[in-house]
Amino acid sequence: MQLNGAAAIISGGASGLGEATARDLAAAGVKVVIADLNEEKGKTLADELGAVFAKTDVSDEAQVQAAVDAAVATGAPLRIIVNSAGIGWAQRTVNRDGSPHDLGAYKKVIAVNQIGTFNLMRIGAAAVAKTDPVDEDGLRGVVVNTASIAGIEGQTGQLAYSASKGAIIGMTLPAARDLAAVGIRVNTICPGIIDTPIYGSGPDSEAFKAKLYAPVPFPKRMGKASEFAHLVRSLVENDYMNGEVIRFDGGIRFQPK
Ligand SMILES: NC(=O)c1ccc[n+]([C@@H]2O[C@H](COP(=O)([O-])OP(=O)(O)OC[C@H]3O[C@@H](n4cnc5c(N)ncnc54)[C@H](O)[C@@H]3O)[C@@H](O)[C@H]2O)c1
Repeated sequence: MQLNGAAAIISGGASGLGEATARDLAAAGVKVVIADLNEEKGKTLADELGAVFAKTDVSDEAQVQAAVDAAVATGAPLRIIVNSAGIGWAQRTVNRDGSPHDLGAYKKVIAVNQIGTFNLMRIGAAAVAKTDPVDEDGLRGVVVNTASIAGIEGQTGQLAYSASKGAIIGMTLPAARDLAAVGIRVNTICPGIIDTPIYGSGPDSEAFKAKLYAPVPFPKRMGKASEFAHLVRSLVENDYMNGEVIRFDGGIRFQPK
């Protein structure tokens, strides 16, 4: 699908993978709407890119509807939905002190990562479905979701996060099948270890990151957010990619710890 002249909404677009995607798509002539909780970073980036910022909690129905309305109001046809908002959580099913995993934390991770992704996908796709098709196949737009390889091989202490990401993987094929009726393709990226603010900053964070990427076969480093953005753009541009879950991880396979 041609990027130039289309509008895109990117959840989590104020930081990390979403920010890199916003930069990449804006450079390709896309009118970008950054839907993020972080107003300060989101507005600054939107000003830099000539994009629109919509303060959004992805788990909230009315806020996501308002962000999608803002994308439609740009006047460019909304054709690209990127779900990149997400939060992490580390806790064991039974803690070392014998207490059970916190239920509120589990619900929060599911609300943001799983329900938030579904929320933007459904409301965004409903808006994309109202646009005119762009080609003889009847293509109207593309959804790219962000899961994680932790949704496939969750590590110790990742139960809530892995459950939320596994659900995004599980949504991919039925969403692609449903949305075929309105000319929308759906793919999900499972990143491995990509260098973003999610890992914090400073010497402790650098040491932690070095330990994380040590088992990556090749290239032996963290992925770059710009490389993730490149994959998003490829998935949007390549019209035969649909219903797929793609590992993006330098070949790493997570061990139990
Ligand atoms: N960086 C990695 O190594 C990695 C690996 C696998 C998966 N992921 C996933 O990629 C996505 C992006 O991660 P990142 O590394 O760029 O993290 P990040 O922390 O840099 O960016 C996440 C963004 O999401 C926003 N956000 C959080 N909760 C939100 C909510 N309820 N509503 C709207 N926005 C919200 C934050 O404000 C932030 O701007 C996440 O879903 C994460 O789980 C990242």
